[in-house]
Parts: sequence; C-alpha cells; structure tokens
Amino acid sequence: MADLTTNLAGIQSPNPFWLASAPPTNSGYQVQRAFEAGWGGAVWKTLGDPILNVSSRFAAVGFNGQRVAGFNNIELITDRPLEVNLKEIYETKKKFPNHAIIASLMVEPQQEKWHEIVKKVEDVGVDGLELNFGCPHGMAERGMGAASGQVPDLVEKQTYWAKEVAQTPVIVKLTPNITDITVTAEAAVRGGADAVSMINTINSLAGVDIHSWNTIPHVAGKGAHGGYCGPAVKPIALNMVAECARSPFINVPISGMGGVSNWQEAVEFMLMGATGVQVCTAAMHHGFRIVEDMIQGLNYYLDERGIEKVSDIVGKAVSKYSDWGNLDLNYKVVARIDPDTCINCNKCHISCEDTSHQCIDMLKDPSGKSYLKVREEDCVGCNLCSIVCPVDGAISMVELPNEQSPMTWNERQAALQATAAQRLDV
Ligand SMILES: Cc1cc2nc3c(=O)[nH]c(=O)nc-3n(C[C@H](O)[C@H](O)[C@H](O)COP(=O)(O)O)c2cc1C
Ligand code: SF4
Ligand code: SF4
Repeated sequence: MADLTTNLAGIQSPNPFWLASAPPTNSGYQVQRAFEAGWGGAVWKTLGDPILNVSSRFAAVGFNGQRVAGFNNIELITDRPLEVNLKEIYETKKKFPNHAIIASLMVEPQQEKWHEIVKKVEDVGVDGLELNFGCPHGMAERGMGAASGQVPDLVEKQTYWAKEVAQTPVIVKLTPNITDITVTAEAAVRGGADAVSMINTINSLAGVDIHSWNTIPHVAGKGAHGGYCGPAVKPIALNMVAECARSPFINVPISGMGGVSNWQEAVEFMLMGATGVQVCTAAMHHGFRIVEDMIQGLNYYLDERGIEKVSDIVGKAVSKYSDWGNLDLNYKVVARIDPDTCINCNKCHISCEDTSHQCIDMLKDPSGKSYLKVREEDCVGCNLCSIVCPVDGAISMVELPNEQSPMTWNERQAALQATAAQRLDV
C-alpha cells in the first residue's frame, strides 16, 4: 500500500482527504466521528464573533436524476460560542493527535482582532489556521469574507497580521468571485501565507419557485444570494487550482476543493498542483463514509502504477496546462465512427449538422442499410459528436499524422513579425 501521508506547509495528516470548513466540521462530535471514519484532517467550521443564522439555508440544483448536481447555501460562519468550539477543538486534538485540525477564522479587518483570535485558537492546539476570505454572503456585507478576499491589499494585510503572531502554518482560503484568482493568491503570498486554499463558494441564486415566485431557498418570502458548490463547480475550482499552480509567483502549497466527490477527482486536483483536497458537499450528501472509498481507490490507483507516495503525483499535470497561444495549431484529430458499435441513433449527425461543421454523412451500404461516416477532410475535431454519442466506443477521436511541423499561435505571430521586420530592412 502506498504512503498516503500528507504534509501541507508543515501540517501533517494521515491522508490527503480533509473535510472543508462547513456544517460537517461544526462540532467536536462530528469531527471525531469523521476522523474515526478515516478523514485525514478537518478544517473547523469558521470561528469568529458568533453570529445568527437564518432558518432555511440550503438548496440543491438537480440535473438529470442527480439530486445534488450543485449545492447552494446562505449559511454564515459558526453560530456556536467561541469558548465551546475551543473546548471541543482541544478535546478532539487530544483524542486524535495524528489528525490535522485547522481552525478556519474570520474577523473584521483589524490587526488586534486577528492577533486575538489567532492566539486563542493556537492555545488549544490546532495544527494550522485557515483565513476565510471567501464567504460570499452575510459576512461580506459586513466587510469580511469575500468582501475582504476581493481586495488584494486587504488579503495581504490581514494575512500579514495573522502571520505576525501565528506559530502554526497559515493557509489563506480564497474566493472564486473574482476575475483572476492568481491576483489574490499572490497577495496572500506577499502577506506571508504558508499555503492557499480554494475555492470557497460561488455567488449564486439556486432558483425561483415559478408558482409562489419565491426564491429558492427563501426566508419568510425573501431571498438573498448564496454560495454555490458541489459537483457543478469542480471544473471552475480545478482551473483556479491549476492557474495558481502554474504561476511562478505562487510558490506555496495549495489545498484544493470545490466539487470533489471521489478519489478520481481528488487525483485530478493533486495532478494539477493541490497537495491535498477538502470536501464539503459530497460529505453532506452521502455522509462521512465516502472517505473509505476515497482512500481505497487512491491506494489502488497508486499501487497499480508503482507510485510509492501520494506526494509523488502532486503537480505532475501542471506543465501540460498552458495558455491558448502555446497550443499547436497544426495538431489534428478527427472523429471516426465504429459501425459495429454504433446503434444508429443519429445524435452525432444532428449535432454536427445543426451546430458544428456538417461533416457526418448519412450513407447506404450495398444492401441498402444506412450508416454514418465522417468526412475527415472537413472534420475540425471539435469532439461534439463524441460528447453527445450515448454509446461508449462508437466514436473515437483519432489523431492524424502531422502534415506540417508544430506551430503555435505565439510562434506564428513571432514568425510573421520577423518576416515583416526583414521586409522593412530590405
Ligand atoms: C452549507 C455550507 C456552509 C459553509 N460554510 C463555510 C464556512 O463556514 N467557512 C468556509 O470557509 N467555507 C464554508 N463553506 C464552503 C466550503 O468549505 C467549500 O469551500 C465549498 O463548499 C466547496 O467545496 P464542495 O464543493 O466540496 O462543497 C460552506 C459550504 C456550505 C455548503
Ligand atoms: S468532431 Fe465535430 S466537426 Fe468532426 S464530425 Fe464530430 S461534430 Fe462534426
Ligand atoms: S451518436 Fe453514436 S450511436 Fe448514435 S449514430 Fe452517432 S455514433 Fe452511432
């Protein structure tokens, strides 16, 4: 069995699967049960000045029979007194000394407030701190959470204040509600962050009840924007992790989250640069025991490839992620239909005919039986037909031999400029 132990900026955990700061980590009872189930770490539900939460907080967006394709919430940080949380953190750490407990923190952007809370949580033995600059609702209206996290100077300054007194590693949790997450990630690094984590939830309104005209969810007939997470946000989160991982200015470990539901998705995040992952929605949907499959699947994946340590896969796909201008314009793939597997549903023909390049022909063989064939010279390799095809293996995207040597857009522009310069010289 591979070594799954994880070290994120000095925070050790028996495996890379942590519960994210959210309802699953609201109390000592829950975190202890989660550790018993196998989770390697837990980021405690955000601590700060206790607040009031509203009743009716969550909503799910289903898709095609999947009840929780996306999850929306208008919950704020912990509504339990700080002293109670601190006592439970202390007890939990004593019982589980080898598991990672990270205190998620959110206070007003004032130096003494950060100093005070950092000291208090470190006194009860947490392994690290996560500064919550991401909460998109409620706290943001009071100048905290995403409101802080959208202003690079505030991210830098508050990270710095936390670091002034912190004895344990400081992770800065970033909001995705920003055009370019690397800007705030860089600000966190400038402030001295030991790691960054992403993503918190994305601004959202889950829906409107078309009969009552109430928002979903609503509180006595009124709604407010919430935070979106769960499977639907995974591609957004993965891109943000990858963008940070490939930035030369963000040279700290990344804790990745957003839609992770199984070991395969965790591996994707780690290949794209995350040292470990955090999970919220999947645990809320299926319970703590999903971690058993995650551990088993990850072990199997690593063993099958002869990889001894999970840390060996971290960042291995980052160099494959680049800017569009670095992609080879002369690389070509085409769709090929396997007539033996195809069930003649015609979905590919319709999608190519109506919304792509009209290059799947309907032909008849000598016996009069109809079949579909791609006119490869006109196929642009967009993948649409293979995406809509309901039968695995009926359409393959096949790489054609390069007729011309590789040429990226950037190289092409450079070559054109060089030619223009030569002409001017003449
Ligand atoms: C109901 C709910 C409450 C949350 N509360 C917090 C919180 O207190 N602090 C925080 O940093 N993130 C909070 N989050 C965000 C999660 O920690 C996580 O960043 C987000 O849900 C993405 O992960 P997921 O797709 O696995 O759910 C909350 C999420 C949900 C669904
Ligand atoms: S890959 Fe795109 S262009 Fe080619 S056949 Fe399929 S849908 Fe048409
Ligand atoms: S979508 Fe797939 S199964 Fe349907 S006709 Fe096209 S290749 Fe055949």
